[in-house]
This record gives sequence, structure tokens and C-alpha cells, in this order.
Amino acid sequence: MKIAVLPGDGIGPEIVAEAVKVLEVLGLGLEMESAPVGGAAYEAAGHPLPEATLKLARESDAILFGAVGDWKYDTLDRPLRPEQAILGLRKALGLFANFRPAICYEQLVGASSLKPELVAGLDILIIRELTGDIYFGQPRGRRTAEDGPFPGSEEAFDTMRYSRPEIERIARVAFEAARKRNKKVTSVDKANVLETFQFWKDVVTEVHKDYPDVQLEHMYVDNAAMQLVKAPKAFDVIVTGNMFGDILSDEASMLTGSIGMLPSASLNDRKQGLYEPSHGSAPDIAGKGVANPLATILSAAMMLRFSLGQAEAADRIEAAVKAVLAQGLRTPDIWSEGTTKVGTQQMGDAVVNALR
Ligand code: IPM
Ligand code: MG
Repeated sequence: MKIAVLPGDGIGPEIVAEAVKVLEVLGLGLEMESAPVGGAAYEAAGHPLPEATLKLARESDAILFGAVGDWKYDTLDRPLRPEQAILGLRKALGLFANFRPAICYEQLVGASSLKPELVAGLDILIIRELTGDIYFGQPRGRRTAEDGPFPGSEEAFDTMRYSRPEIERIARVAFEAARKRNKKVTSVDKANVLETFQFWKDVVTEVHKDYPDVQLEHMYVDNAAMQLVKAPKAFDVIVTGNMFGDILSDEASMLTGSIGMLPSASLNDRKQGLYEPSHGSAPDIAGKGVANPLATILSAAMMLRFSLGQAEAADRIEAAVKAVLAQGLRTPDIWSEGTTKVGTQQMGDAVVNALR
């Protein structure tokens, strides 16, 4: 089993190092090879996703990814910006199904900005379509406006689009996932305004006929944003498009207390996957040894479960994470009075010790 390790920028290298430590102690004989990605790759090879990195990713069973991005690259041409690395990997490998679980750990109920009773026991799964929508639709660009309120002026535009097979396959992923959970899918759309999302709603409704044992509800995205902070536990699986999923998954992450706790998986139809923490590169705290490595460690657990067929090892990692939380160890992002503040490496070491 071969794993491409792509640490990236900011806190990426620090948190990925801890996840690699955890994987190594499991003794599964995983072959791990590192390559630069994002801003680090731009510095090293002049491109955020060098050919060699993409090749390594293609040849691997799974990719363990840190994070990319730094403000210092914001003025580069768009194709050279660090974010293009993650978008390029998603597209090149066809990683269309993005799993973003939002689980509120018992010990962290107090870290959420919502009232404890709203989030205690929260366990929802956002399934975001990841290779279509306005993120990738063509054409896009700048031009001179021909109509609208200011003809002749400069304008910018993007294209929102989804094809039937793209919607069908992500809907199936959601219904299958719900079958293993609480059998409820909320499909989030904007069918009241957008043609793309009326189509989305129609296709999801058709696919649902094959899953009569799963309950399907439809919700407009603005209402979904509200319900997520009003009664988050009413959700089980949320399925939505690329852009709405980007926004709602950040919102959902805060219900759990810290985005530093949330793993994610992006899979293609061959179960090859890219695993990354849901958070970004946090350049403001990079190199200080204070970043929370748990989201990356939990992403490594998802990798073992979804791409490498090692469910038992995945269970062990998740149990070890719960154990260190129960010991009262906390990185600064989840620290509260009465718990023990630790750094990135100490947190990784504690998980390793719990595994031993
Ligand atoms: C995410 C991120 C990315 C996205 C960025 C870095 C391109 O926000 O994975 O949610 O918008 O998809
Ligand atoms: Mg995002």
C-alpha cells in the first residue's frame, strides 16, 4: 500500500509529521513517499502542483495532504496560486465525493460557540460534490458587458453547471452513507432561484426511488445555514454541490468546537482518496508548534478505513484520540480552564503512546 504524503504550506508540515508518526507506529508496512505541493512546490519547482507530485499522487492508493496557501502568494496569477494544487488534484484524480463529518466529542462540548445542549452528541456528515459546479464550470473570465445595467463596462463571470451523471453519482454516495447511519438525507439546493439546482433537486429525487429505506428531505441553502445553528442534531447526512458544501462545511465545523478536530476524505470511483484536515494552512501560527494535529491524525484514520481496507487500525486511532482527550490534553484551539495545554508534537506523542 502506497501513500503519497503532501505536507504543503503553513502548519501543513507540522501536522502531517504527527500523522505520519501515528501511521508508522501501527506497523502496517505502509510505503510513504513525500512530495512538495502548494506554495512550497511553487518555491521548489515553480508550480503549485508539479508534474512529479501529480504522478506520485496518481500512482498511490491514497494521499495524505496537509494544507496549502499563504497570503504572500495572493498576488500571483491564479494558475500559480497554492489553492490550484488542491483543485488540480481533485480534478485530475476525479475525487468527486467529499466526506466532511462534524462530530462533537463529549469532552469538547464546552468549546463550541453554541449552547452545550444543542451540540452534545452531534454527529452529522456533509457530503460535498467536489469536481463540478461553479468551481469548474466553463466559460469563466472577464469581458466587456454586452447587456445588464452597465453595457460596455468590464465584468467578470463564472458558470454554474451540473450534468445528470454528476448529480446521480453523488446522490448515490449520500444514500449509501445514510444507510449505514440514521437513514436520512437532506439535499441542499437553491431550486427556488437557480436552474442548476432545480435540476439537482429533480435528479436527487429520481435517484431516491432506489433507496426507499432512506428518508429524503430537500432544503434551500439559506435555510440550511440557519438550521445548522438552530437545530444541528436534526441532520444526519447532508448532500450538496461544491460551493454550498464549501460554505456549509465550514459552518458545521464550528458546531464541534474547533475546526482543528475535523478530518475529511475525498474519494473517486476507484476508492482512491485524498485525506486532509478540513482546516487551512493557518500561516499565522505556522512553525510555533501550537497547531492541533488531531484533524490530520483523524484524516489518516479515514484513509485507513476508506482507501486501505484497514478498518480495525482506523478504529484504534480514533479510540486513541478519544483517550488523549479524556486525559485532558488540549492544544490551544480547544483548551479550556482545568485542562492541560500541549503543543503539536506532545499531542502527536500522546496519541502514539495511547496506541502503544
Ligand atoms: C476547502 C477549501 C478549498 C475549497 C480552497 C482552498 C480551494 O476552502 O477545501 O474547503 O474552496 O474547496
Ligand atoms: Mg472551504
